[in-house]
Amino acid sequence: MRKLVVYFIVLATAASIIGLHALPISPPSDPTSAIALFQSKLQFALNKYAQKFSGTGESYVEGSYFELGTYNSSHADNSYSTYAKDDGLDYCYYVQISVGGQNFNVLLDTGSSNLWIPSKDCTSPTCFMRNRFDSSVSSTFKLSNALWIIFYGFTGDSSVFGVVGQDDVEIAGVISEGQTFGLTIYETDDFMPYSFDGILGLGFDSLNTMAAPSLISNLILQQKIDPIFGIHLSHYLNFSDQSSITLGGVDQSKFRGEITFNPVINSYGFWQIDVDDALVDDEPIGFVGKNAITDTGTTLIYLPLADAEAIHELIPGSRLARSQYYFIIPCDNTAVVAFRFGGVDYEIPPVDLIFAAIGGNECISNIGVGAINGSDTWLVGATFLKNVYSVYDLEQRSVGFAFNADT
Ligand SMILES: *[C@@H]1O[C@H](CO)[C@@H](O)[C@H](O)[C@H]1NC(C)=O
Ligand SMILES: *[C@@H]1O[C@H](CO)[C@@H](O)[C@H](O)[C@H]1NC(C)=O
Ligand SMILES: *[C@@H]1O[C@H](CO)[C@@H](O)[C@H](O)[C@H]1NC(C)=O
Repeated sequence: MRKLVVYFIVLATAASIIGLHALPISPPSDPTSAIALFQSKLQFALNKYAQKFSGTGESYVEGSYFELGTYNSSHADNSYSTYAKDDGLDYCYYVQISVGGQNFNVLLDTGSSNLWIPSKDCTSPTCFMRNRFDSSVSSTFKLSNALWIIFYGFTGDSSVFGVVGQDDVEIAGVISEGQTFGLTIYETDDFMPYSFDGILGLGFDSLNTMAAPSLISNLILQQKIDPIFGIHLSHYLNFSDQSSITLGGVDQSKFRGEITFNPVINSYGFWQIDVDDALVDDEPIGFVGKNAITDTGTTLIYLPLADAEAIHELIPGSRLARSQYYFIIPCDNTAVVAFRFGGVDYEIPPVDLIFAAIGGNECISNIGVGAINGSDTWLVGATFLKNVYSVYDLEQRSVGFAFNADT
């Protein structure tokens, strides 16, 4: 026991803090809960990127196990695709994987690089609400002599911890052999409302805290896929649209025109690229020297106050809330915000700027206030990414965007 405690202290020091989205099954129904939900999302996003950007994942999903089929992407040779599930409100998107023959739902998270799921040995109440991994029925499972922990929340009083193991992991019909992943043996009750199984980190290996290749890296090392993947995130308002991820290629049916690539600007391990500018109703704001971390595991968009202000100043009828962490925009806003990457403007339709109504014609804007690293770095989540097809090239180290096929 003493040894364990020491381990945890050591790990705690090195541990990363990650965020967790509060996730209601239905939209917030009153101003107080809408603001509280917005605030918790902001805090969790900030936590994820706290501690020198050593974050490792976040988020969560309602519902239990679901069936998602793999499919053959159109015109993509040698690639593997699977549908992803939208949690119901475009808050987060998850896929089904199989670990040692057992199925789990894991968040698609380009903002982290670990893979983790709950273990059968986890007797925390939260774990009983999850799919749990039973190592005794997997002949391919190997336990490592390592422990692993992640703290959630500002105070670090909610956490998951467990052990590290290896097993064969199947995703979209392709198998990563001997994949290193985390198995939780403890999860605090804070997780109970969220009902997710685990997280699939899709960032670079430098963010992996288990000293092992990520799932994607392992598939590349084992020559199962080319070093590229593409993601389509759906809009819940369109029932016939389905999210998907394609490994080893892109799904040509999900976008139109060319993919424009933007080089990753540093080696921290995030999919972090330069931003040319932002525009409101085609009017360029004139931003200089900004960059963005593109993160499918974050719901909204967070900008340093001055930048969020510059954008909202051009949205008629908008104002900064007194708390200064969110903006209020008219619910019937028609102004179109666009981000310019690599010389191309990508629009966010007005409906996608609305987080929730807080009374009258007042709505919380999905572009929130949050400086994850000084005054020039933006955190760009699903609010933007669902409006493009996004492509992540590990060899060229670049992020590509193309217009959604249905736009
Ligand atoms: C994908 O294509 C392969 C080879 O053509 C075929 O065997 C397989 O059944 C297809 N899978 C789906 C889900 O359509
Ligand atoms: C909804 O999604 C389907 C499938 O992607 C697409 O064909 C259709 O155009 C979309 N509808 C709208 C209104 O965007
Ligand atoms: C964070 O900011 C520091 C100081 O400006 C900079 O040196 C570093 O590269 C930034 N890190 C990221 C991940 O943007």
